[in-house]
Amino acid sequence: MEKYNYGMVGLGVMGINLLYNIADHGFSIAGFDLDSNKVEELQGSTLPGIDVQGFALLDAFVSKLENPRKILLMVPAGKPVDAVLNSLTPLLSEGDIVIDAGNSYFEDTNRRVAELKSKKLHFMGIGVSGGEKGARKGPSIMPGGDSEAFNLLKPMLESIAAQVDGEACASYMGKSSAGHYVKMVHNGIEYAIMQLISEAYDLLKKGAKLNNQQLYEVFKDWNNGEMNSFLIEITRDIFQQKDDLKDGYLVDVILDQAGAKGTGKWTSEQAMEIGVSIPTIDISVGSRILSSYKNERIKASELYSKNEILIPENTELFIKEVGDALYLATLISYAQGLALLVKASKEYGFDIPLKDVVKIWRGGCIIRSLQLEKFYSAYTKDPNLTNILLDQDISDLVKSKINSLRKTAAFATANGISTLGIQTALGYFDAYTTQSLPINLIQAQRDYFGAHTYQRVDRDGIFHTHWSNIND
Ligand code: 6PG
Repeated sequence: MEKYNYGMVGLGVMGINLLYNIADHGFSIAGFDLDSNKVEELQGSTLPGIDVQGFALLDAFVSKLENPRKILLMVPAGKPVDAVLNSLTPLLSEGDIVIDAGNSYFEDTNRRVAELKSKKLHFMGIGVSGGEKGARKGPSIMPGGDSEAFNLLKPMLESIAAQVDGEACASYMGKSSAGHYVKMVHNGIEYAIMQLISEAYDLLKKGAKLNNQQLYEVFKDWNNGEMNSFLIEITRDIFQQKDDLKDGYLVDVILDQAGAKGTGKWTSEQAMEIGVSIPTIDISVGSRILSSYKNERIKASELYSKNEILIPENTELFIKEVGDALYLATLISYAQGLALLVKASKEYGFDIPLKDVVKIWRGGCIIRSLQLEKFYSAYTKDPNLTNILLDQDISDLVKSKINSLRKTAAFATANGISTLGIQTALGYFDAYTTQSLPINLIQAQRDYFGAHTYQRVDRDGIFHTHWSNIND
């Protein structure tokens, strides 16, 4: 009896599309879901030449998989993953591989790796980005865990992933939960870029008074040049989408309150935990939170009315400066996320190859962009680069755009247009590139009220001073 190469648990939108993608590339695959409608849907698929089968009974599903079994899970993060593992692991044999392809929290993945290891099973966490379309046609895949197990999956993962310049957007991201960690940071950067694009939109709309058709043209131009990216491309299209319930554009009737599933928040929490500064990602999470206070924002806007916005004299120049500011603030957000990965790699012993991270983010994923080519060159020159802002070529690029970032931030500030992302990107850049920060004063204050001690610039050692209080 013929057995299937792979198994997929969870036939929701992402699971079924990934399953079809795997089958398209010549691997036979069985699907399992508790929901019999989803199993029937799979059974009813009439895709030519694809060897797939749906199962509603877990033991029947497991018995139809070749050894070692390679089972992907595409179920919601958290308890559902543990529930599947509780039912699945008693049916497995030594050496079988379970691959969690959802957005699981990396510490849950570490725990599951250990639990399955004690049962002589492999557990891998792989990040998959690209949404429904990506899953079907070629996502970016971030696998982490046991390298021996990874090697067994490599041919399949590389064949189903997006391809850029003949290179698959699927590479080994490192030990234990490195794959899920890299995906978490991907999402943190995704939050930051989305925040920055929304601010550029606001500046062009309120500052230059562009309408949706004009915004479409600007984003089209941007996407055709160095700013080419998936998020700029979909934003371009959003400005053309008409409302199907009444006259006008859909974007104008969408409520300004953002949802969030949690991966951005995890990125911020992690950065705090291991001591990395990622303010643009932090504020993008905070901005979504602030957006949910709609009623309070309405009250506050009535209490603090704003001056009329001064329209820039040269619209074309303004658009160019906003574009450059967006480009640079985006680059600074990538810099923050990548710096977090550098630190996490050491802290947790992941051994994350940064060069491969930016390589596989160039295609398939939500944050794919032309900028990543530049980071790929930077890490190719120096795989141990601690911050991409330290690369010579990147610094030339930054210098060519920094004035636009300053002017855009100044315009927004003067006119009361909220640009939390742009301001923090600039603030991070200015702090990171400053030799002497005023933190000497904070150290003095800490020592003054708490005897927390300080170090000196002119000699080694730890010092404490009995500060003289003029009121004593
Ligand atoms: C991806 C996306 C995907 C999902 C986000 C949305 O890489 O394909 O990041 O994972 O769309 O989780 O996150 P929020 O709901 O938190 O915006």
